Amino acid sequence: MTDGPGTRSQRFFARWYPDLMQRAEDAGQADIRARHLARARGRALDLGTGNGFSVPHYTAAVSELVMVEPNPGLRKQLQRRTADIRATAWEIVDGDAYALPFPDASFDTVSASLVFCSLDRPEAALDELARVTKPGGTFLFHEHVRGTGLLRVLHEVATPLQSRIADGCHLNRDFLGLLDRSPFEVTEIEHLRMPGPPARITPMVVGAATACN
Ligand SMILES: C[S@@+](CC[C@H](N)C(=O)[O-])C[C@H]1O[C@@H](n2cnc3c(N)ncnc32)[C@H](O)[C@@H]1O
Repeated sequence: MTDGPGTRSQRFFARWYPDLMQRAEDAGQADIRARHLARARGRALDLGTGNGFSVPHYTAAVSELVMVEPNPGLRKQLQRRTADIRATAWEIVDGDAYALPFPDASFDTVSASLVFCSLDRPEAALDELARVTKPGGTFLFHEHVRGTGLLRVLHEVATPLQSRIADGCHLNRDFLGLLDRSPFEVTEIEHLRMPGPPARITPMVVGAATACN
């Protein structure tokens, strides 16, 4: 694991993201995570774990939890949350969504929360996530997505600025379109809004998909 300081963008993001997102967690996002992640089983991969908002919501049905986080500042904060992990085995890995350091078919469950907005090559990351998922294994997704109508226009206009201040985040990401063209088949989907002001206007999709590789 590299202990360097990370890029300027990563350092800035690690300073403000946890406090801002804590407001959405307190306003109901923690409950959404708990309900959603209760489905995780067996050996599980959490991609882009950040400072660990999802970590306490994996149940003891997860035997091993592998957390991939490339931002050194967030990884440091994540290390402080490991007492919340219920899996008997766990590991924090400095990795990259495009080249995950695991053999094919390594995981029963893979999960990403609010990660695909940040990726430059989300199609490649979905292929890579499918590669490490066992055939028939589950992908649990929890992503904010572009709006419709006027909100879509706003998301298009605001994305260049958002991307600069939020370490690459795209408000205009069409995650469901990407998922449709990926090796995963959607089995469950809920359309929600991110809880709490000012995030309330942000559409989210929370659901499950099966690896069909
Ligand atoms: C908005 S944060 C979400 C963090 C956490 N999953 C949550 O729900 O709060 C996006 C996360 O994706 C991570 N990320 C960005 N690029 C990545 C990449 N290429 N591979 C893996 N993770 C990445 C970031 O470091 C960050 O932790």
